[in-house]
Order: sequence, then C-alpha cells, then structure tokens
Amino acid sequence: MRSEQPTTLVREHQTGTATAVAHPNIALIKYWGKSDERLFLPRTDSLSMTLDIFPTTTRVQLTAGTQDTITFNGAPATGEAERRINAFLELVRERAGRTERAVVDTENTVPTGAGLASSASGFAALAVAAAAAYGLDDDPRSLSRLARRGSGSASRSVYGDFAVWHAGTDDLSSYAEPVDAAAGLDPALVVAVVNAGPKEVSSREAMRRTVDTSPLYEPWALSSTDDLTDMRAALGRGDLAAVGEIAERNALGMHATMLAARPAVRYISPASLTVLDSVLQLRRSGVLAYVTMDAGPNVKVLCRRVDADRVAETVRAAASGGAVHIARPGPGARLLDEDTR
Ligand code: PMV
Repeated sequence: MRSEQPTTLVREHQTGTATAVAHPNIALIKYWGKSDERLFLPRTDSLSMTLDIFPTTTRVQLTAGTQDTITFNGAPATGEAERRINAFLELVRERAGRTERAVVDTENTVPTGAGLASSASGFAALAVAAAAAYGLDDDPRSLSRLARRGSGSASRSVYGDFAVWHAGTDDLSSYAEPVDAAAGLDPALVVAVVNAGPKEVSSREAMRRTVDTSPLYEPWALSSTDDLTDMRAALGRGDLAAVGEIAERNALGMHATMLAARPAVRYISPASLTVLDSVLQLRRSGVLAYVTMDAGPNVKVLCRRVDADRVAETVRAAASGGAVHIARPGPGARLLDEDTR
C-alpha cells in the first residue's frame, strides 16, 4: 500500500501566493532526542503513519509590508508559535535569497499542544506553501528537509501513508522518504483524546532533559535501531500484530526514558492508563490492538480497519467522555489550487 507520491509539488505554481494542506503523522518508531538542536537532527531514525484526519491548511502570500503577519485559526499568532513561524520564514528567505515578508494564514484542526502532532501537519503545510510562494526547490526530499527545520516530525508529513525519517549527519542527509507496506495491512489508528489542553513541558525541553539526564536514554536509542529494522520487515509482510507489538514497545520504552530523566517528565496520566488497560483487555479477548503515545496524555490505538469501530467503542468507554477519532493512512502534503479553494 502506497499512495501516489508527488514527484513535483509546486512547479506549476507561480511564486508569490500558495496554499498547502498537510496531515499529522503518528510515529510507530519514535523520534526522541536531537543530536543538533539548531538543524533539528535527530539522534535516531523514526517511522510514522500519516493520518487522514486533522488537516492543517496554510496560505502564504508575499507582501510589500515590512513585517510577517501570522494568523492562526483566525487570531494573530503570539508567543512561541509566532517566534517559530517567524524563524522558519527567515530560513526560507535566506535559502531563496529574497527579502519580501509574508502574510501567513493557518487553519489547524488538530487540538494544539496535546501530543497529537499539530506541529507536524503545521510545519509540513507551511514548508510546502512557503517553498512555492518563495520559489524554492520543490522535490519532496527538499521539502522534507525544509519542514524538518520547523519541527522534526514535520519532515515525515510531507509523505502519505508510511514514512521513515533518516537521522542523517547533517542538513542534507536528514530527510524522510516513503516506506512500502503490504496491501493487506489495512490499519486504523483510534485516537483517544483524554486531555486536549496544551502540555506542560514542550517536546523540545523534554527531549533535551531526557538525552542529558536519563540513564535509560542510550539503551532505548540503541534498541530503537533494532525496532526500526523489525518494523520495516513487519510492514513489508503486512503483519499487523508485529507492527503493533513493535510500535507499543518502542513508545513505552520512550516514555520510560522520560520517567527516568532528572527531574522526570511524565506525560502519561491516570486517564491514559485507564485507556491502556482497556486495550490490554481487548487484546486478551483476541482483538489486535496496540497502543502508542507521544508528548502528551492522549492514547493512539493501532488496530485492523475492520476492528476500528469496536476498538473505538471500548476506548470511548475508558476515556471518560474524551473525544475518540478513527484515522486511516492519509495523504502527503500538497498544494491546493487557489482557484478551487
Ligand atoms: O517534532 P516534535 O518536536 O513535535 O517531536 C515529536 C516527538 C514525538 O511526537 C513524541 C515522537 C515522534 O516521532 O513524532
């Protein structure tokens, strides 16, 4: 299973104004820890599934004004979000050798900051739209490298379905590319939102603290390399049970590294554990269902598409009123035709 990957995303567009849409991705083999904070080089390779829910749509329009104007869900962007988008636009201008400022308008449907990868869809959409508006290289690898500079996980949202992000050793060699999965895999990801509020510790700070202080970090990074090899093989033969087992052990291992950091970073909440228990129960009753979690308390459950409704029902009962969404593998980032918008 592999959706068509565009070879050229932006060529036919005039520079100046562009709108792009991108979807979040959830890592089955996690990115946790940087080797270079400025370049967003990760310590390890990671692998993800792009979802078909929670898209981000971003329009970038060059302007004669003297400042960037950034609107986020209808309101002016402030604080850290504004600073990061601004720094990203500076990078794009530097690469393009241009000086025009931009009007950026983003509609993000992901609950921001809840460990649901809003930065992945956000920076993938911004990278594709800004590259088109400023006339930068438009091949998927260049766009993946560019998106990485906004948020590491965004490098993977350039692609649909499954993508692997090669850690690399420098700006050129750190990029994502598509990974094939057997057609019979037919997975779904059930997202249980147990808390849609912003997280207390940013993933950037949590990663830094984990790499610097957790005695469990190096062993996890080492085992993650094996997990990736096993995961690629499991995807290739369409073995959902193996994909789930590997994803679950990799994610829980990542959370163990954080719990051992000094001071500890704990994203897993009592509500997350209740959902985790319900997934164990499902498994005991013969349903293939496996958990993964990111930098927040929400739980994502990997299962077969045919079981998704049943898994969602079980998880909804456990998630004490929190929203539950069913996602399937989704499309890569793409430009929207301005006329049809
Ligand atoms: O790219 P960031 O800073 O949002 O970091 C994402 C880290 C995890 O979501 C926890 C794991 C991953 O690989 O997406």
